Amino acid sequence: MKNYSIINVLILDDEIDFTEELKDYFENAGFISYSANTVRDGYEILSQNEIDLLILDIRLPGANGLDVLKKVKSLYPNMEVIMVSAHGDMDTVIVAIRLGAFDYMRKPLRFIDLQIAIERTQKYLSMQQKLAHMEEKHSLITKNIQASIGRHVIGNSPQIMKSFELAKTASQYPDVNVLITGESGTGKEIIARIIHYMGPKSENYFGAINCSAITETLMESEFFGHKKGAFTGAVCDKKGLFELCNEGTLFLDEIADMPIIFQSKILRAIEEKVITRVGDTKLKNTTFRVISATNIDLDRLVEEKKFRLDLLHRLNTLHIHIPPLRERTEDIVPLLIDFTEEFSKKINKPIKNISDDVFKKLVCYSFPGNVRELRNMTERAIILCSGNSLKADDFSLPEHNNKLPINDVSGVKLVQHEIEHIRKALDDAKYNQSLAANFLGISRHVLIRKIKKYGINIVKREAE
Ligand SMILES: Nc1ncnc2c1ncn2[C@@H]1O[C@H](COP(=O)(O)OP(=O)(O)OP(=O)(O)O)[C@@H](O)[C@H]1O
Ligand SMILES: [Mg+2]
Repeated sequence: MKNYSIINVLILDDEIDFTEELKDYFENAGFISYSANTVRDGYEILSQNEIDLLILDIRLPGANGLDVLKKVKSLYPNMEVIMVSAHGDMDTVIVAIRLGAFDYMRKPLRFIDLQIAIERTQKYLSMQQKLAHMEEKHSLITKNIQASIGRHVIGNSPQIMKSFELAKTASQYPDVNVLITGESGTGKEIIARIIHYMGPKSENYFGAINCSAITETLMESEFFGHKKGAFTGAVCDKKGLFELCNEGTLFLDEIADMPIIFQSKILRAIEEKVITRVGDTKLKNTTFRVISATNIDLDRLVEEKKFRLDLLHRLNTLHIHIPPLRERTEDIVPLLIDFTEEFSKKINKPIKNISDDVFKKLVCYSFPGNVRELRNMTERAIILCSGNSLKADDFSLPEHNNKLPINDVSGVKLVQHEIEHIRKALDDAKYNQSLAANFLGISRHVLIRKIKKYGINIVKREAE
């Protein structure tokens, strides 16, 4: 790992006296320094050396310092840039900071300013290094698996470690069906993908289907496939999910929404490992692992005769429960740091500091939308924050909910909080359900289910 007490500096300025003076200063201070008096020479040095800090003149002959800044920030996003400005350049300096410059210095240069700027850069680079190290430490999966599932998976708490260890074990038994339970946004889909991609059959198909998002009429052909001409619109032969997932994984998301009349058909296919496409008579062998996920108590649905007990037994050979975020508050800080890194890179707005108040505020919050809510909230905070530091005020939590004691998970109170939370989101979203679901960090289907479950009025309430 690079030692950041040694900084490689490049000074790019057309004034030779200035670059020489600064170069001496840096070398005397023990840094490795380079100087360039033309933009062309500057790019040459940047391409051949790993530069940590660029001191860049705003006014360069034949070039605009801001254009150079934009280009070097996109070519070398990890390099920090300090702009050098002359008196009266303040507007340009502001633009430069918005474009990602770390700091600025005024000409004529005062060495004390230089000293301060360097100390700040050093501190920042070592913080970056610590963050990268922390990310490695809290990442639960290797970079390869990360690439397959397209996400970082972060966690520190004993609870998430336990779920993760179970997922790792499950991955090694590709014939075993797994049921994943947990509130909305806890990471059920991520765990399902980990099980598939960490296993010996990761090269085979991972087919995901959301059982609440598909109509009963389409279900049969989605799962079993169809033969050309089987029904209007069946213009060619089509494989269904059961066949596509042969030797792979079928992920049944929101399994509680699988219509009861379809449950027996699914059960038969899973047990017999033989299917027939709609409109066909040929039998086809297919073998696959089923991972299902739900945030609903399936035992209760069995009691209410809405879910088949024999199917439940088939699906939950192994059961992994993911606890809600409020019960594993140790995960909030590493997740927040990871999401901050992700979004600040994505929208090119470097965040150099997260105030301690942010952490204090978030660990007291109940997170009904769990990790998804934290992720959305972080993205919004980064977009809205002024400057490059995240403060507690940048995270607006619903007033009635942000003081929920961490251990207050008693059923009645939580349901009450959840209802208020949903009402507030609907109000804020002017009763647009998709937008409200987004505010809550849950899917629209989940929101609609909750609205029905709690009998929440979805017609705009006039001043109550
Ligand atoms: N441990 C984690 N590390 C990083 N990101 C996570 C983690 N857990 C969840 N997330 C993120 O939170 C969001 C929700 O995760 P996911 O879709 O897996 O939840 P879910 O339990 O399937 O939710 P739902 O019940 O609403 O379908 C995703 O953006 C996911 O990347
Ligand atoms: Mg999901």
